[in-house]
Amino acid sequence: MIKKAPIGVFDSGYGGLTVLSELRKAMPDNDFIYLGDNARAPYGTRSFDVVYEYTLQAVKSLFDQGCHLIILACNTASAKALRTIQQNDLPKIAPEKRVLGVIRPCAEMIDTFSTTKHIGVLGTSGTVKSESYVLEIEKLHPHITVSQEACPMWVPLVEDNEFNTPGGEFFIRQNIESVLSKDSELDTLILGCTHYPILLEQIRKFVPNSVKVIAQGEIVAKKLAEYLKRHLDMADKCSMNGITMYYTTENPRSFEEKASLFLDEKIVAEHLDLK
Ligand code: DGL
Repeated sequence: MIKKAPIGVFDSGYGGLTVLSELRKAMPDNDFIYLGDNARAPYGTRSFDVVYEYTLQAVKSLFDQGCHLIILACNTASAKALRTIQQNDLPKIAPEKRVLGVIRPCAEMIDTFSTTKHIGVLGTSGTVKSESYVLEIEKLHPHITVSQEACPMWVPLVEDNEFNTPGGEFFIRQNIESVLSKDSELDTLILGCTHYPILLEQIRKFVPNSVKVIAQGEIVAKKLAEYLKRHLDMADKCSMNGITMYYTTENPRSFEEKASLFLDEKIVAEHLDLK
């Protein structure tokens, strides 16, 4: 008999917690295992090969813990590693398991947010260079114009807790002004990196009220709940005790301290090595 297991949620660091918290709200009875590769974050400036290698290690580690379904709650990993893992690795290592990303659900929903049909995507250098958002949105909504902006400083600002400083706000303002100057009709900004919702308060300071700022967590949670309704066989393999476990490749005590801030609750984390 197949053993039920938590849903795996992976990110390079803390950013995936913004997705996890929405998943827990939408699916309070499900169990989750969160894995943050904080020791090797950020992924955003790393090559395709390295992001793929690290992400595959994380996926295998979550499979070893029994997970049948994994969400890559990281745009960089979704952009650079997801397709290869789905097409080349899964058929060999675990054909009955599933790995899903965060870019496709947002591309599907984006049309519902924008009136002008001119949108901006803020992401890591890796996500922007991969053009994943541009390509996915073009496939689904060819009438939408997309402007992209790489914000390479934003993930380190979150990982190092430096975002609430004048220096942090300088970088946030610079990227916001830059993306807004690319298209005067832009009315929607997607936070195309799961770390960025943690910066929302700072981001909103520099974005006019007429422009919507969209975080991915709720979208991903809604789409995952729909996916599980369509795939009852997978839903049946997910354990349901309302428990979340946390693993980090860094020091678990500092992870607990910081994650508790982002999640607004105390958590307990364990160390895990990826190789
Ligand atoms: N949260 C990851 C993302 O969504 C951050 C990537 C990084 O580590 O640079 O892209």
